[in-house]
Amino acid sequence: MNIRYFDTLESTNNYCKLLDLNTVEEFTVICAGKQTAGIGQQGNVWNSEPYKNLTFSIILKPTFLSTADQYQLTMMLAVAVAKTTMELLPHHPVKIKWPNDIYVSDRKICGILTTATVNHQHIDSAICGIGFNVNQTVFPAWIPNPTSIALQTGQEHDLGLILQLLLKNIENEYLLLRNNPDVLKEQYLKSMYRRGVPSQFKLNEDIFIGTIEGVDRFGHLIINPGKRSFDLKEVQFVI
Ligand code: BTN
Repeated sequence: MNIRYFDTLESTNNYCKLLDLNTVEEFTVICAGKQTAGIGQQGNVWNSEPYKNLTFSIILKPTFLSTADQYQLTMMLAVAVAKTTMELLPHHPVKIKWPNDIYVSDRKICGILTTATVNHQHIDSAICGIGFNVNQTVFPAWIPNPTSIALQTGQEHDLGLILQLLLKNIENEYLLLRNNPDVLKEQYLKSMYRRGVPSQFKLNEDIFIGTIEGVDRFGHLIINPGKRSFDLKEVQFVI
């Protein structure tokens, strides 16, 4: 594994996009102490206090995955980050909020943003960006329900050690994705936030009550009654 640390980057994901991924070794990690234009899901900004948290991207080459199975990559990363969070916070409820946010109780501790490049029917390479809140204890008011390891434990933690732990878990789950994706899916389902618990969802401007059953083979969320399946952006939790 090759870890490249930068003091400041615009965005570790954007930095990776400028690399020639054909010549970059798989599992290269680009890490920044500070991002000046961190990117979140759905075009949002990813806000992270400089040097307090982990903001990094990993380059993977999951050529064994077909384009249709792209969501399995997201699932693998979510399981690896959730496991790491459970190791750091063994007495806290750690869950994966579909599709790939990591929650502690009802608060978000980590966000994941993956961009894959496809070649015919297969994935060629993927830039997997992870923003993991470690030592930040004050967040801007506009960030919805954030938390961090320090807020949960009341103490500061070593960023380097947590990065090592995350990378080890990602390596392990990546092997599982390659060798036994069904087991990985079981782990994902077991950790899903509010699975099996009636919850409120927002669909366009309507609020409805439903219960998450799981995800289908494309990674769409399945909600009962009616086993309705939803794509990202279509449906939101009301927390
Ligand atoms: C989300 O909105 O939940 C996804 C957040 C992803 C943030 C990480 S931080 C490292 C990498 N570089 C970016 O610009 N974004 C991702």
